[in-house]
Amino acid sequence: MVENYDIQLEMRKFVAPEFIFGIDSRFKAASYCKKLGARKIFLATDSQISKTFWFLDILASLQTIGVEYTLFSAISPNPRDFEVMAGSEIYKQEKCNLILAVGGGSVIDCAKGIGIVVTNFQHIRNFEGIDMLSSPIPPMVCVPSTAGASSDVSQFAIINNFENKYKMVLISKALVPDVSILDPIVLTTKDLYLTACSGMDVLSHAFEAYTSNAASEFNDLHALEAIRLIDNNLVLNLKNPNNLQLRAKMMLASLYAGLAFSNASLGCVHSMSHSLGGFLDLSHGECNAILLPHVVDFNFSAATDKYIKIAETLNLNPSGLNNNQIKQKLIDYLYNLKEAVNINTNLKIKGVSSDLIPTLASNAINDPCNATNPRPPKKKDLETIFTQAM
Ligand SMILES: [Fe+2]
Repeated sequence: MVENYDIQLEMRKFVAPEFIFGIDSRFKAASYCKKLGARKIFLATDSQISKTFWFLDILASLQTIGVEYTLFSAISPNPRDFEVMAGSEIYKQEKCNLILAVGGGSVIDCAKGIGIVVTNFQHIRNFEGIDMLSSPIPPMVCVPSTAGASSDVSQFAIINNFENKYKMVLISKALVPDVSILDPIVLTTKDLYLTACSGMDVLSHAFEAYTSNAASEFNDLHALEAIRLIDNNLVLNLKNPNNLQLRAKMMLASLYAGLAFSNASLGCVHSMSHSLGGFLDLSHGECNAILLPHVVDFNFSAATDKYIKIAETLNLNPSGLNNNQIKQKLIDYLYNLKEAVNINTNLKIKGVSSDLIPTLASNAINDPCNATNPRPPKKKDLETIFTQAM
């Protein structure tokens, strides 16, 4: 029987790590480290995570299997290049041979940076860009705690170049961790605003991967399902933060969106958000929530069919409407969702003033995420979007 639709024949690859999904999977972290040959573990986390009950469970399971570890928790949100260099010194001094990263995107990105430095023997700033590593990072196991960044399954690491106030984007297949352990229990200690911001980050990943000019059927499948899961569960999750089914669905949405963007890359929401995060140290998910409707407005004409499919997935009933009406419905949906999850802010409130916009746009235009945006932006376009988002 012949199928009634054509598949994409252009070459595309899809990279994904092993992952274990489910309640109490955090107890598997130690045995996975052991299977990967851990002699001494470099355990990266942050000061908040290290106080949670489930982190203590992970420590106890490490003690049970008798593998030594060194704890490193000096990691900020929007992790800085000097934190990567400090961590890599400790990794070397302690003679570690495996990384266990327990935390959100900042912890996992910083841990990836440390992995790069300890096997490539140069400053982290020398690895900015695409495929810049000559040696793989050490074995790496992740326990992600935010259902947002999805660094635990992605080829990306984002590190703040602190002196020059911008975020470096590092992309390589070698940055995909060996194992990701996705335990919804860990999300129960996450506060509501972080849940909202990381949920909007996931939605931005799915929108940008789906409309990316490097998208493929493998990505689309995951991106659309992530959009459906966020639509059905994010607001409910905020109202019922202890409901494990809802937490697990957010974790699944993050996993799917992560697989999608790791392979199809991102777009202007992220190039601009990286610029804001690097220059003003703002929350990544908050910036994305602010920027996403404006970027949809900018991109719609270049990926109309894709945005119509997103509108269908969101049950916005686009049939019978013209393209402008569909675009407006999508933008309204995004504003309403942002309000429903209590992200009541804009770039002006976050400290962006008109005189900063040329600098923010200059930093954003150099970000590799623009390369896959469906409408190639010019610096002037990014200035306009920043201004609209104030
Ligand atoms: Fe993101």
